[in-house]
Amino acid sequence: MSKEITLSSENKHVFQSSEEFRKDALISDPGIYQKAEDRLAFWEERASTLSWFKKWDTVLEWNPPFAKWFNGGKLNASYNCLDRHLAGPRADKNAIVFEGENGDTQMLTYKELHHEVSKFAGVLRSLGVKKGDVVTIYMPMIPEAVVAMLACSRIGAPHSVVFGGFSAEAIRDRINDAKSKIVITADAGYRRGKVLPLKENVDEALKGVAEIDKVIVVRRVGLDNAVQGERDVWYHELMKDAAADCPAEEMDAEDILFILYTSGTTGKPKGVVHTTGGYLTGVSTTHQYIFDLKENDVYWCTADIGWITGHSYLVYGPLANGATVFLFEGTPDYPAKDRYWELIEKYGVTILYTAPTAIRTFMKWGESYPQKRNLNSLRLLGTVGEPINPEAWLWYHKHIGGERCPIVDTWWQTETGMIMISALPGVTDMKPGSCSVPFPGVKAEILNRSGQPVQNGEVGFVAITEPWPAMLRTVYGDDKRYKDTYWGTWPDRYFAGDGAKIDEDGYFWIIGRVDDVINVSGHRIGTAEVESALVEHPAVAEAACIGKSHEVKGQAIAAFVTLREGVAAREDLVNELKNHVAAKIGAIAKPDEIHLTEELPKTRSGKIIRRILRDIAEGRAIGDTTTLADASAVEALQQIGKQ
Ligand code: PRX
Repeated sequence: MSKEITLSSENKHVFQSSEEFRKDALISDPGIYQKAEDRLAFWEERASTLSWFKKWDTVLEWNPPFAKWFNGGKLNASYNCLDRHLAGPRADKNAIVFEGENGDTQMLTYKELHHEVSKFAGVLRSLGVKKGDVVTIYMPMIPEAVVAMLACSRIGAPHSVVFGGFSAEAIRDRINDAKSKIVITADAGYRRGKVLPLKENVDEALKGVAEIDKVIVVRRVGLDNAVQGERDVWYHELMKDAAADCPAEEMDAEDILFILYTSGTTGKPKGVVHTTGGYLTGVSTTHQYIFDLKENDVYWCTADIGWITGHSYLVYGPLANGATVFLFEGTPDYPAKDRYWELIEKYGVTILYTAPTAIRTFMKWGESYPQKRNLNSLRLLGTVGEPINPEAWLWYHKHIGGERCPIVDTWWQTETGMIMISALPGVTDMKPGSCSVPFPGVKAEILNRSGQPVQNGEVGFVAITEPWPAMLRTVYGDDKRYKDTYWGTWPDRYFAGDGAKIDEDGYFWIIGRVDDVINVSGHRIGTAEVESALVEHPAVAEAACIGKSHEVKGQAIAAFVTLREGVAAREDLVNELKNHVAAKIGAIAKPDEIHLTEELPKTRSGKIIRRILRDIAEGRAIGDTTTLADASAVEALQQIGKQ
């Protein structure tokens, strides 16, 4: 039993892992926090657990805001995830246990995965992909996606994985920004019994992109016409006679491992750059310590490989640690609402890492679904992506964890690369709703705008005050944007973009984004992206989007739109606009609500006051309106609030 040790009048629960868990935990000595006070020594010792072709000259070179970790060292991420496990019994251990949406299964041992990756890396080389060339990957959640990522890192080609739910236009933007010449995709994927036309989206995306050399297509569904013309080629044909003798390229610790695009306050998504040595040190250490990884664990991270969680905690962290990773293509409710629990029972999953939005969905469906299944194999649970409300935490603890499993609530970002704030389950007490304390070797504080630490209990902004090994190194091709976005608020301190407070025990309570980023089901959507998609529609003059609290998704997108002169509000226009956004960006960005309005509330200088829109969307009394240029704008909007 993990024990609840207090329940104060303020409804603050504190949980401690069971004695048994703590006794067996990989990290059971709280002295680790003290030890890691010497950050550089801590991270250097952790780096030394990886396999290096050449040792580094320096642990950290810090020319704010540019960091070099383990500079001079040489290693390869794919080698660390595969080759180094082959000498001992891990060679025949499952690296990937896969189940597709349609129930097909596949197991790949470390030896087999190494074989596939080596072959595909050789294929990429033979197609002319060189160290430093960016390869775009747009794939369903199938083993070939992992093979593709590791094959890229094997030859030193940074990958740019684009989430399979993104639209053609989103793919095009990312291909263009990264100047990528090779795309790896699949004919299609499965989703809730339907076929997702991935290759079709790639074809659409590539219209007008001149630079593409090859599109490699994995046959997932069996659409024979998915490969056409000179440019396209089937993965299985390339692999048929490929040799498996592609040695791993010796990469500098600071060579780019991958680029991953994420939404920010303004403009198009930015390419977050992660490099090799520090990233791998950060993700392998956090994965091992936070998930208390043991040799026999069956570890399941439900995130898609298109997000950072998929990169760090489905691929690089667990495989560097020699874990057995369960990979699932489908959704929790197909064919039935107990699919996750069925899989946990079937494969004996021991560690489950998922998002609060999923947990709230399960809560809504009710406990009868998990109750039908045997979940006794589970020993540790994790959450990520957004704040978890204590009710959902307690439900997860009781109905999934059988009141036996500790829960690690992990705070981090695409940019941080690795988990930054989380409990260590054998050491740290857990408070539902708090991500607890910074990981050893990570320095985080809550500061006010002017950079002063706030009092305990006061709301401020999350700051990371010292560089950390898995930090982003820059925004791809845009050092200035990197500097301004993350290091422009306070000198030498990383601005995370989250509001938070620290309680009297030093625990962090994340409130949410303080910028114009909406967190929909744990996915970041920039208001600017949705707004620019909307104004590209011929009927729309202006658009403003906000995140509206949503019981399951955390936040939902609500948009306020004014129409162009002479355009009448047709009955089906709202739906048309919603679908237009989905087509431009992807279904995850589709607004839940679109309100047509005469005017938007603006300041005298013409800036839209989103706070007022938020009040209206959430049905609250409208706060301060003194800065409004035209008070009548609000009267019309108030009618919307009453609808
Ligand atoms: O607002 C925070 C929220 O997700 C943001 C980062 O989003 P992204 O880069 O897409 O990465 C998501 C997965 C790492 C953060 O700025 N967030 C992430 N984890 C938590 C969280 N908010 C509260 N609690 C968390 N555990």
